[in-house]
Amino acid sequence: MTSAVDLFDPFNEAMRIDPYPVYRRYLDAGAVHPGKPAMPEYPEGWYVFGFDEAKEVLRSPAFVHQRNKVLMEPGSIIDLSRSHGKLWEFLGNWFLLKDPPEHTMLRGQVAAFFRQDTVRQFDAHVEGLASRLITQALREGGLDLMWDYAYPLSLGAITHVLGTTMPELHWFKKGTRAIANALSIRNTTEAYDEAVDALSEMEGFLKSSIAEQRSGKDNQGLLAYLLCPPAGAEMVTDENVVYLMSLLFFAGQETVSDAIGNGVYLLSSRPDALAWTMLDNSRIPNTVEEILRYEPPVQYAVARTATKDVMIGETLIRMGDPVTVVIGAASRDGRQFENPDRFDVSRQTSGDTLVFGKGIHVCLGIHLARLTLRIAFEQLFRHLPENWRLAAPPVWRDGLSLRGPASLQITW
Ligand code: HEM
Repeated sequence: MTSAVDLFDPFNEAMRIDPYPVYRRYLDAGAVHPGKPAMPEYPEGWYVFGFDEAKEVLRSPAFVHQRNKVLMEPGSIIDLSRSHGKLWEFLGNWFLLKDPPEHTMLRGQVAAFFRQDTVRQFDAHVEGLASRLITQALREGGLDLMWDYAYPLSLGAITHVLGTTMPELHWFKKGTRAIANALSIRNTTEAYDEAVDALSEMEGFLKSSIAEQRSGKDNQGLLAYLLCPPAGAEMVTDENVVYLMSLLFFAGQETVSDAIGNGVYLLSSRPDALAWTMLDNSRIPNTVEEILRYEPPVQYAVARTATKDVMIGETLIRMGDPVTVVIGAASRDGRQFENPDRFDVSRQTSGDTLVFGKGIHVCLGIHLARLTLRIAFEQLFRHLPENWRLAAPPVWRDGLSLRGPASLQITW
């Protein structure tokens, strides 16, 4: 297919502030477009903007992660194993970047722990934490929504679920930001260097958590479950415990805090949407889904590679081509959502969403994320003074793959 628009350039700085006008131009011109490579070393690839086409790529076994491995392995173009061994070691063991059968086996070791019925038991803990954090921040008179609420809440929630002691917030955030930047579209050698340091430190933290748990600590989270699996389940090695827990810490914390920040930002300038939501707490889950659709925290899925020639919509993707799904654009596809650029918290969707991915890599933490977000907004609406507002426009985080405010000052 020939495209009526230029080669898509995800590195355009304007996209970091507001990517949606660019997505709209591409969506209007077709569902799939060629674009600049995600990294200088990559070949040019395809970007999928249309909802149905994106869903097809995410669900189809014809698209795999093999390329990520090929790019990282000894002798490959990037060869992270030589330059950034710790990054290669961790990413190479994260099931987010693996294909079956390894993906199926590794995800299976933790999947039961993240089922909806299991996650429900964390409700009271997350609610207590959210209520304490917001009460404390209000007592102190000012509020940086991200540092005083969204970050400590999402970190506290995932730490409780994983069952380690609570890491220090600033140390932890520096580390997960470094990892996010290394994984982001447009990463650099410096980003890789910082991620290596962050992963080494996270490894140290997780190894001492394992030792503490073995020495009789009474945490009941995933760590205890992995170190002492139920009868019939396979024993997980300490090394794999570290890889699994580091992925979950990273994936579970960065995204949820972005979604809280995005939601507060959106609601701050839309009194009607805020009033509709606050009328009844049972409306909050609907508002959360619209926040996620309108401002997806994960804008790009991990790049896949085609294992054979395949038609996606009207575009022929050749075997070996890299393909990246633009979740932020697919969530604004007018063929799927009526008035897609309208933030409508009362929108009734069929529940079909791409914000948590689709197919075998669909977000493992989907139920935990929805639970934490529901509680985060319940507690905010309960405690924030009625006349709360933004004290300054949001400062958007670095990187293009994840989207959320780095800081959000609230006043009243
Ligand atoms: C609003 C919050 C969240 C959003 C928007 C989100 C989004 C996503 C997306 C889009 C993917 C698929 C990526 C791809 O296919 O390339 C994914 C995968 C994943 N997410 Fe989440 N996520 C969120 C919260 C969480 C939480 C709380 C956890 C913690 C358990 C988590 C753990 C994971 C894991 C482990 C994967 C990899 C799954 C696999 O490869 O099988 N996420 N997430």
